[in-house]
Amino acid sequence: MARIAVVGSNMTDLVTYITRMPARGETLEAPRFEIGPGGKGANQAVAAARLGSEVLMVSKVGDDVFGRNTLANFAEQGVDARHVGVVAGVSSGVAPIFVEPSGENSILIIKGANNHLRPADVDAAAADLLRCDLILLQLEVPLETIYHTVALATAHGRRVVLNPAPATRELDLAKLRDVAFFTPNRGELALLTGMPTETLAQIEAAARTLLDRGIRTVIATLGHDGVLLVTPEGATHVPTVEVTPVDTTGAGDAFIGSFAHFLAGGADVKQALHWAVRYAAHSVTGRGTQRSYGDMAAFRAFCATVPGGVP
Ligand code: RIB
Repeated sequence: MARIAVVGSNMTDLVTYITRMPARGETLEAPRFEIGPGGKGANQAVAAARLGSEVLMVSKVGDDVFGRNTLANFAEQGVDARHVGVVAGVSSGVAPIFVEPSGENSILIIKGANNHLRPADVDAAAADLLRCDLILLQLEVPLETIYHTVALATAHGRRVVLNPAPATRELDLAKLRDVAFFTPNRGELALLTGMPTETLAQIEAAARTLLDRGIRTVIATLGHDGVLLVTPEGATHVPTVEVTPVDTTGAGDAFIGSFAHFLAGGADVKQALHWAVRYAAHSVTGRGTQRSYGDMAAFRAFCATVPGGVP
């Protein structure tokens, strides 16, 4: 069984389905509200676990009802949360999210306890972390923790998937040398490189500047345009399948969690991407973040309805 570790965030998603964004000073009624488990790290962990990977989570929650629900959710999803610590006196991470009728979303994050995940927490989990085939990172926890985990993983020959979301110009690419897979979306790639990312040629050129700085593989995630895989050997466009989106929240995390599952399970990179774009596409057809992630049976049933085969 594939073994995957996530060193990252968890949030409680407060999702409001809106007809449109209210103007400043306006009060507007929205038709629907839901609370559910989220956070980029936890989402990626749950996607991989739903597909059947063994997943270890290193994270922090606050000593509040959201934190307790997050721990209960990890237990329910079969995610190993022995290294999810509870921080007294701070809130758990929360994310107010607005989803438009088109399925597009806008997200605010309040990191709360996620800001307390420190390098020492990674060291405390090191023995378990280094038993995993892949380590997944995102940027909703302190950057020092990201750099420390990359250094630890690299020193022990473990592959890291770094999802630079939400993007920040403070990210020090010099400390990310040897990251195996770097997965920015279009906006994140533009922000990190200062280059245009509208066309596939522009995306490839921007990604190459990251390869020049030591990152081994860039996987640019392009929503309904699929992904562009860029390695020193060349670039490959992996298209996705067409679906009618209901809620795109967490689709990027569904993509990364499922990519990790298939890759750690023995698929080659292109085959893992083939399945991951489909897993993400399936996720946007359902409401909610983790709630829209299928297990293997649901994913196979979806794949049977679209071109590209069944895993
Ligand atoms: O990527 C989607 C996630 O971003 C949401 O679950 C929200 O919690 C924020 O972390």
